Amino acid sequence: MSASRVAVVTGGNKGIGFAIVKSLATQFEGDVILAARDPSRGQQSQNDLEKQGIRVIYQQLDISNSKSIQEFKNFLEKKYGGLDVLVNNAAISYKPASTAPLAEQARETVCVNFTGTLNVCRALFPLLRPHARVVNVASSAGHLKILKPNLQQQFASDSLTESELEMLMNQFVSDVEAGVHVEKGWPNPFSAYGTSKVGLAALTKVSARQMSTGDKEDILVNSCCPGWVKTDMAGDRAPLTPEQGAETPVFLAFLPPGSPTGLFFKQKKVVDW
Ligand SMILES: NC(=O)c1ccc[n+]([C@@H]2O[C@H](COP(=O)([O-])OP(=O)(O)OC[C@H]3O[C@@H](n4cnc5c(N)ncnc54)[C@H](OP(=O)(O)O)[C@@H]3O)[C@@H](O)[C@H]2O)c1
Repeated sequence: MSASRVAVVTGGNKGIGFAIVKSLATQFEGDVILAARDPSRGQQSQNDLEKQGIRVIYQQLDISNSKSIQEFKNFLEKKYGGLDVLVNNAAISYKPASTAPLAEQARETVCVNFTGTLNVCRALFPLLRPHARVVNVASSAGHLKILKPNLQQQFASDSLTESELEMLMNQFVSDVEAGVHVEKGWPNPFSAYGTSKVGLAALTKVSARQMSTGDKEDILVNSCCPGWVKTDMAGDRAPLTPEQGAETPVFLAFLPPGSPTGLFFKQKKVVDW
């Protein structure tokens, strides 16, 4: 087992995730793991960086697949015996013009963006070492105000537990399946992506609370919006480059001790969620 420090970026093969990997690789004292669900895309991205003289390590991770998560955990445990930075960046978003049924959009989007990230956290949090940093790449599209007040209260509650949050997200999916999501207070216009990111920002608060009462010193968990960034997800009209989008997540990965935890950042500043 190596004693090296180690940073992990999910969905690291392209877009903002790739820019986060690249930026961490030039600043982080330790190994940077480019986690990607597709082996050829992941390996290709590692090779692209290698050609620029930047060393990172590709490792397979599909956050919606529990076997893949377990194998990833085993790899980290065996090779490093711990984890120092976790950037939960991987996500999907249906295009606005998508004709996929709303129930399918709700199921798939929650499955990857919320449940997948939650399962990665459940598997990898026991490996976090003192002073670790967890960064959840959320979105301004996941602002609490997209929900009606009854749901806002539940998501923002300081006593919300992880399993209650999971139940709320499952409730969203079943309300969409039953066609009652608007009357139940979920976003109107419909946004499976926005709802999944509300869930991720709420998970950030819950995880930060868990860490602050745990036995490991100085573990900070924050979420952020990277801004509107030109990627396959957001399209060509977006004004920011992936490198600009990586700035706030990378800033959060290097927060000094005593910094805020459980909060939502944009442009390196705490903003209302
Ligand atoms: N771009 C924006 O303007 C914007 C704004 C706000 C927030 N964000 C957030 O920023 C993050 C990065 O977005 P992006 O714009 O860079 O998107 P992107 O270019 O579409 O990249 C998404 C990444 O997530 C990976 N991914 C998707 N499902 C996965 C799964 N099940 N397991 C593992 N990896 C998976 C993709 O892998 P494949 O290549 O295999 O598909 C890809 O590497 C996301 O969390 C997104 O919600 C983006």
